[in-house]
Amino acid sequence: MKYRIAAYISGSGSNLKAILDYSLQKKIASEVVLVIANKDASGLEYPASLGIETAVIPRKEMPRKEFVSMQLDLLEKHNVDLIVLAGYIKKLPKEVTDKYSRRILNIHPALLPKFGGKGMYGINVHKSVIDAGEKYSGPTIHFVDDIYDNGEILLQKKVEVSVDDTPESLQKKVLKLEHLAYPEAIRLLEERR
Ligand code: GAR
Repeated sequence: MKYRIAAYISGSGSNLKAILDYSLQKKIASEVVLVIANKDASGLEYPASLGIETAVIPRKEMPRKEFVSMQLDLLEKHNVDLIVLAGYIKKLPKEVTDKYSRRILNIHPALLPKFGGKGMYGINVHKSVIDAGEKYSGPTIHFVDDIYDNGEILLQKKVEVSVDDTPESLQKKVLKLEHLAYPEAIRLLEERR
């Protein structure tokens, strides 16, 4: 199965870049056809340079109804059949999670079910892992449902946390693995059905 992917981002979009590069090099069959951000994220530049439609849909600056319909319209226009959240800090509206149920993936930079939930984003996650004295960390790719970091896990990769790791050094190590894990998870889905 080959998917038409919409990626949601909020930041630098390095995971999106990894997915785009795998797709361009035909290491995955699926292609990214749409990128949505909640703000003018720097990660929008690379997909835009490839001619992929990008859209900024900020939650605060419009009525909820419009916020939802803009997303649904774009997803429909591009015949999207897989959504990947790649560092998107907002919660998807229920209308989207309902419509694309079992077709939304998220990447989280720790080994869920530990170190997930609201507020567990970016460097905070790695701080918590180190404070808890964990021996291992690594990215989790999971299906998205209505609850933060809750859906079924598709793939995890492990890396050792060394005694001299800082949140920043751990973040770097995990991010490296994220860039392998996300395309791999998409390939797993392609092969699965
Ligand atoms: C990634 O490390 C991702 O795992 C994390 O945000 C970063 C986005 O980086 N996501 C979460 O913490 C979700 N709770 P990127 O914009 O360079 O891909």
